Amino acid sequence: MNKEISEILVRTGAGTRMGNVMRRYWVPILASSEIEPDGPQVRVKILGEALLAFRDTDGRPGLIDEFCSHRGASLFFGRNEENGIRCGYHGLKFDHNGKCVEVPCAPQLCSQMNLKSYPCIERGGIVWAYMGPEGKQPDPVGLEWATLPSSHVFVSRRWQQCNYLQAMEGGIDTAHVSYVHRYEVDTDPMHMGTKALDYIKADGNVVFDIEKIPSGLALFGRRNGEADSYYWRVTQWIFPWFTLIPPFGDHPLGGHAFIPIDDENCWVWSVNFRPDQPLSAQELHDLQSGRGVHAVCEEGTFRPVANKDNDYLVDRKAQREKRSYSGVFGFAIQDASLQESMGPIQNREAEHLLPTDKPIAMARRMLHEAAMGLEQGNEPPALQGATQRVRAAGVLLDRSVSPLEWAQEHLTDSLEKPLYSV
Ligand code: FES
Ligand SMILES: [Fe+2]
Repeated sequence: MNKEISEILVRTGAGTRMGNVMRRYWVPILASSEIEPDGPQVRVKILGEALLAFRDTDGRPGLIDEFCSHRGASLFFGRNEENGIRCGYHGLKFDHNGKCVEVPCAPQLCSQMNLKSYPCIERGGIVWAYMGPEGKQPDPVGLEWATLPSSHVFVSRRWQQCNYLQAMEGGIDTAHVSYVHRYEVDTDPMHMGTKALDYIKADGNVVFDIEKIPSGLALFGRRNGEADSYYWRVTQWIFPWFTLIPPFGDHPLGGHAFIPIDDENCWVWSVNFRPDQPLSAQELHDLQSGRGVHAVCEEGTFRPVANKDNDYLVDRKAQREKRSYSGVFGFAIQDASLQESMGPIQNREAEHLLPTDKPIAMARRMLHEAAMGLEQGNEPPALQGATQRVRAAGVLLDRSVSPLEWAQEHLTDSLEKPLYSV
C-alpha cells in the first residue's frame, strides 16, 4: 500500500480524515464498572485526545477534556463530588457536560470557562461517546452484544502497543488462525470439543470469498463438511472497527472492537456473549482467567502480563512440543505479539500481500473510500443501528447453496433468527 493511502488510514487524531470518519460513530471508551458515582475519575486517551471520564453523584457518565480551562492542570487531581469535578488547583468546577458551574474567585467569568465534552451512552456494560460534529449523532449502537442484558455479555479490554489498523487487520485476516492459533483451539474452553474443529482440521485448504455488505464485509471461509455439504465460517467486519468471530459449537459467540488510543496504541476490546441466556458461572470464570479471546492483565492495569517487555513469555519448549505454535500462549497474546512485532505503525510500503489478504485489501479500500468520501459530503457506511444487527455463523450448507444468499436471509437483521453454529 502506498505511503499516502497508508497515512490516511492510520492517522486518527482530531482533524485527520480517518479521525473524522471514526468520530461519526459511537466510540467505546471504558467499562461502565470503571466509574462509580463520586468515585475516582479515570484518564482516557481516545483518538489522540486526552480525556477524563467520571460518574457524577446522580450516576451520569461524563467525558470531558482532561485539562482545566483555567491554567491547564489535569483534573485527574481534582475532586469528583456534588455532581461535578472540581479542579484541585484553584477550585473551578465542571459538570458531566463540561459546563463550568463554579469559578470561586470570579463567578462572573463562569460562562467562559466551559470544557470540551462528549455525550455518552451506556450499552452492553460499556460507556460509549460521540466525538463528532453536532447534529450528526448516529443511532445508539445496534450490535447484538451491545444490546443484551449484562448477564449475557462478558467484555474485557487490553492495551495493545500498535496502531489500530494492524490490530484490526488481524481480526479480518482469518487465514492466520490455522497457524499461530493452531494448538490453542484444542484446549481452550471456548473452542474445544466442537464439530467445527474436526472440519477445520480435516480440510486445511480453506477457500475464502468476501462480500461487501451494508454493515461492512462478510467473509466466507469454505471447507469440506459432510459428503454433500460444505462447512462455512462467516466472519463479519462491521465498519469501522468491529469484528464478529464465527462461533464454535454451543460455546458463546465472540467479537472484538479495535479503538485507537493514539496512532501508536489501541484498545482491543474482546467480547463473548450468549443471545438467549446468561453466561454460566464456569464460562465467566474461564473468561476472567484470560481464556478464549481475553488476556490476563497486570493488576489494576490493562497491560497484559505477557507483553513486549518480556517477549510475551515465549516458551521455546512448548513450541518444540507443539503445545504452542509460536511459543506464545493465548489467542489474544499470540495476536498482540505478532501485531506489535510489526512496529508501532506497520510500514505498509514494504509489505507483499498474498491472495489470503484480500479481505484486508477490501477493508482498507472501504476505509479509504469513507475517508475521502466524507470530505465530499458522502455519509460513511453502517451508521444506522439496524445495519449493525448482523451475526457471524458456522454452518453446514448443501454444496449447491450460495452462502451469500443464505447469509442475506439468515445473518442480516438476524437477531430474532436462530443461531448457526456447529
Ligand atoms: S488550573 Fe484548574 S482551577 Fe486553576
Ligand atoms: Fe488471532
